[in-house]
Amino acid sequence: MNLNDCYNFDDFRKLAKKNLPAPIFHYIDGGADDETTLKRNTESFLKCDLVPNILASVGEPDLSTTVFGQKIDLPIFLSPTAMQRLYHHDGDKASARAAEKFGTFYSMSTMATSSIEEIANISGGPKLFQLYIHKDQGLTDNLIDRCKSSGFKAMCLTVDTVVAGNRERDHRWGFTTPPKLTLKSLMSFAMHPKWSFNYLTHEKFQLSNVSHWTKKGSSIAKGVMEYINEQYDPAMSWKDAEYVVKKWGGPFALKGVMSVEDAKRAVEIGASAIMLSNHGGRQLDGSRSPFDQLPAITDAVGGKIEIILDGGIRRGTHVLKALSLGATACSFGKGFLFALGAGGQKGVEQMLTRMRDEIRRDMILLGCKSIKELNKTKIAYR
Ligand code: LAC
Repeated sequence: MNLNDCYNFDDFRKLAKKNLPAPIFHYIDGGADDETTLKRNTESFLKCDLVPNILASVGEPDLSTTVFGQKIDLPIFLSPTAMQRLYHHDGDKASARAAEKFGTFYSMSTMATSSIEEIANISGGPKLFQLYIHKDQGLTDNLIDRCKSSGFKAMCLTVDTVVAGNRERDHRWGFTTPPKLTLKSLMSFAMHPKWSFNYLTHEKFQLSNVSHWTKKGSSIAKGVMEYINEQYDPAMSWKDAEYVVKKWGGPFALKGVMSVEDAKRAVEIGASAIMLSNHGGRQLDGSRSPFDQLPAITDAVGGKIEIILDGGIRRGTHVLKALSLGATACSFGKGFLFALGAGGQKGVEQMLTRMRDEIRRDMILLGCKSIKELNKTKIAYR
């Protein structure tokens, strides 16, 4: 199997599984507890169907939308995801370059393995930074200041990870950052000699945005859950969010909003966007899927704040359903990470090509000339 055989999410996932040592594959693939929310995130798209209009003379549809004050060529962008260097030796550089080529946002995690400055140097595309509030306020301020001086367009604050979710696959496989050799993982690294060679012969693994501040997690092999629980402030509050809105001063999203009440409060504190997300099913298992919650959220705050649907997206039709129900744009994590694991920058580009082709083709089939024409009339519930 190679990249040319990858037509959809499952294909990229299969190839990534072949390429990556098991602890790393399962870190991407897994969710919290029984993984019910992880599964539901995608299954919920099946609860409704698209209803096309015919003879709409679409011609070439316009796939662009505007989010964070930035026009993007595709209504989907790359979600912030940690430690991309583990999935391919080019890591964030590969995904940032691919996103730029497709005219959409690349997002950087606080836990990225390239720094804010490194990515600003190699990509002129639109960039979003994902912030975690650290117990050490100085580090939070430092990250915001650096994003400002490096020309990042937007910032999001993750609000659903004040403690780490219970990811049992990580316990079972002994996933640590950087990867640690245990008897069990050793087998898996030995069975993936190409990955192991590339890992050892390219840039050293480090959490580049925070390594100057703390050695923890960048030089000592630690479980990701342990790292989150040690570094992030479990007492984070609305006051902290307001502080970031003011200090950053630019386009800003709360990432991980799920309730109507919180969405309204996000408008009140001056956020320009919310990312409707449950962290890819990796945090509170048994929590609602973003797509199921979307109608209630758009009813409450649609038109007052941008709504980004994050979670479970595997197909262009998923994006079109979310946009029809009032989302401004969508984002996906696993969707592009498996492509990164499957083939680095080329893999992500291939995934974005598939996604763009699907969205374009399906807009024509739906009878829509532009994203603006997608609305509730295109959706019927079962
Ligand atoms: C995760 C964090 C690090 O989901 O975003 O693993």
